[in-house]
Formats: sequence, structure tokens, C-alpha cells
Amino acid sequence: MQENIMEKIVSLAKRRGFVFQGSELYGGLQGTWDYGPLGVLMKNNIKAAWWKKNIQERGDMVGLDAAILMNRKVWEASGHTKFMFDDLVECKACHHRFRKDKVGPKCPDCGGDFSDAKPFNLMLETVVGPVASDDAKIFLRPETAQGIFVDYQLIQETTRRKLPFGVGQIGKSFRNEITPGNFVFRVREFEQMEIEYFCRPEEGMTKYEEWRQARLAWWLGLGIKKDNIRFYEYKKEELAHYSAGTTDVEFAFPFGKNGWDELEGIAYRTDFDLKAHINASGQDIGYFDEETKTKIVPHVVEPSAGVDRAFLAFMLNGYEEIAGGRSTTTESNKEVETVLHLHPAIAPYKAAVLPLSKKPELSVPAKALVAELRKRWMVDYDETSAIGRRYRRQDEIGTPYCITFDFDSLEDKKVTVRDRDTMAQDRVAIAELEAYLEEKLKY
Ligand code: GAP
Repeated sequence: MQENIMEKIVSLAKRRGFVFQGSELYGGLQGTWDYGPLGVLMKNNIKAAWWKKNIQERGDMVGLDAAILMNRKVWEASGHTKFMFDDLVECKACHHRFRKDKVGPKCPDCGGDFSDAKPFNLMLETVVGPVASDDAKIFLRPETAQGIFVDYQLIQETTRRKLPFGVGQIGKSFRNEITPGNFVFRVREFEQMEIEYFCRPEEGMTKYEEWRQARLAWWLGLGIKKDNIRFYEYKKEELAHYSAGTTDVEFAFPFGKNGWDELEGIAYRTDFDLKAHINASGQDIGYFDEETKTKIVPHVVEPSAGVDRAFLAFMLNGYEEIAGGRSTTTESNKEVETVLHLHPAIAPYKAAVLPLSKKPELSVPAKALVAELRKRWMVDYDETSAIGRRYRRQDEIGTPYCITFDFDSLEDKKVTVRDRDTMAQDRVAIAELEAYLEEKLKY
């Protein structure tokens, strides 16, 4: 990774409208970020790519969108009220607070000594309804997973699924992180893409391995470089008591311990969660096995990825600076050029239409062309400044194809399509442009 790459990504994200600090007008709110016009497109694309490969294209997966607010009893049953704690230390001098495993022996702000560690619950509490009684105090969910467990039987019965099958869900989660930081890596409001895959106990290990490979293939398929991704497999003594295997998919985040940090967690959670809800609710939400006429509690494999971390990983993975520029056009001022090599499925805009001149002769048909393309894809339009500069603007935000409409286009009814990564140019008939792009953008 390049030096200072995080500062460069944060600056690019702000300058081009990918991500802004949350509530910036009022001095910000720590641990929150707003995804701007380009960021929301990219985030939606990440989620759509996840949904497509993990739900749509598999016959054994269905989706869910459970409520963020859940009965307090859910979190008591799942163990979150008892176990979702981080160790917090407070500086005796400046009283700043830190997560114990994220700081050294002395306060990083003033060098003071720390107090003994105290457990700190990470769930954000709120109140529902007009009476602030104890019963009205609930939590904003710290993971989307529990919605799937609680609805497990309803989903299985309504979809008449047989084991093995899985449920996928994308949604917001909230954690009152003691030390949010590293841009969108650790935040207090974030999104997760989670799968709970239910199977027979004897298939658990096989499914765990299959999901590890499937998830790695998904990241690689979206252009994450092999050198930027790896598995960290938990040792036996590191596993939670109910887990028969846990793997972190790690990305080469430059701030990580030894240059690596967690992008996604894949856990084989055995029957822990469903059993916990069966015991706490008194409802037998197990699985009735038609073959053996017995009730079993399915085992669960859980691949759980963060959307915000995915966003950051794709930005870091794709960012390239070319000293002296790579433009072949005469406008090139030989400054540093930035190219964001995003997979077309992830890129905010799929293409940009750039008329060579602002004159109505070209802008009228170019606008008609972009209007047509916009029925299918997010397509940008830019008629300002020199063409080289416009290419560079699109390169910097990861637009895979620039379509130039020039004076010849009026005669030959063709446009020039420039590839962001290779800068190769194809002359394509306007009548065939949609089919051309469709093939290039296929995911
Ligand atoms: N249901 C399992 C679960 O929630 P986790 O490892 O705590 O497991 C899964 O979280 C993923 O959610 C992480 O790998 C990370 O990508 C994302 N995530 C967790 N906490 C986060 C935070 N504070 N900010 C951003 N992403 C977070």
C-alpha cells in the first residue's frame, strides 16, 4: 500500500462526494459518516453484488429484512446483555477513555496512567413508546443476525425449505464503540451483510469450509487482489465455547496489526443460537425431519461482512497514483494522476458521456444518448473543460468507461469508448452501444 494512503482516501472521499463526516455542520458526531452522492451508489452496488451472488444465484438461500428494534428479551437470550462488553480503561490524568486492547500502557493523549479495566457494554440503548419504564428500554441491534434466528421457523415453514438452507440479510447495526476510528472501519452506526446457513449437525464442518471458499471467491471476483486478502483461522483456544471453527477474512488495511485487520467473520456456531432461543422463549423452533420423523436443532454457519469495511477495502484496493500522469492527450499537465480501479459492478457510475464540444451540434445528441443509457445504468454526463481533464475526473471516481461523442459521430453514428484501466479506445456504433456495455458490465 502507498504511504499515507488512508489520508488520500479520506480526502478523495470527501472531495468527490463519497463520504462526509456525519453532522459536520455542527462539529460532527464521532463514529458516524454520511455516504454522499457517489458513496451511496457504491454502497448500493456492494450490497447488490452480495445479494446477487449469495442469494439470487443460489437455490438454497432466501432473504430477510427484520426490524432494527427488537424485544429486549432477544438480547438476553442471545447473551448480548451479558457478554457484549469491551474492556475500558480511563486515563487518571485527562480522563479520556480507551478500549484496553487498542492502547499501550500509557495514555496516548497525555501520557498518564490508566485505571483498572472496567467492562463496558457496547449496545446502544433507547426507549420505545411514551412511557420510559424498564420494559420500554430496548437496544438498537448490534448485529442483524438475531432477526434471522428469531424468525427462523417462520421462514422455514413459509418457504417450505429443507435443510440445508440459509437466510441472508443486509441492514444497519449499532455499537457504542469506545474508540471508533480509521475512517469507516470502526464506527458506531454501520451496515452488515449477514448469512445464517442452517444444516444438519453432521454437515456443519463441510458447509463451514464451503462458505469460507465461497466468500473468498466473492471478494476476489470483485477485484480484491490476492495479496490484499487472507484467512486468519482462530486457534482452538481462541474460539468461543460454542464455536467449532471461526475464520476472519482479513484485508491488508494499512492501520491493522501487522498490516491486516478483519473484513468479514465466518463462524461455525453449531446449535448455540437456536438452542438459546428455544430455551429462553419456551418455543420449540427446531426442525422437523420428515425422513426420520424427529425434531432436530440445526447447526449454523455464519458469514458476516461489514458494508462499510467492504467500501473501504475496495477503495484502498483500487487506488493508484501515477506520478507524471499517463494521459496521451496534449492537455496532460503531467501532474499526479489518480485512478480508482473499481470492479464495474462496484463503480458508482458505469459510464460517462463526454461530448467533445459544448456546441448544441454535439451536446443535443450526446444528451439524448445519455438519457437512453440512464434507463439501464447510472451514467454521468460532463461537457465542461478539456477532454483530458474530464477523463481524469472519471478515472479518479472509478468510472470504467468514458464515451466520447465527437464531430465524426454525427456522420458515422459511432462513439469512442475508452477503457479506464487500459485506456484502449473502441469505436462503437451507437446502435450497438447498449449491447457492448452490457457485455462489459456483466457480473
Ligand atoms: N453476527 C456476527 C457479528 O456481528 P462481528 O465480527 O462482530 O460478527 C461482523 O461483525 C462484521 O461486521 C465485521 O467483520 C465487520 O466487517 C463489521 N463490523 C463490526 N463492528 C463494526 C464497526 N464498529 N464498524 C464497522 N463495521 C463493523
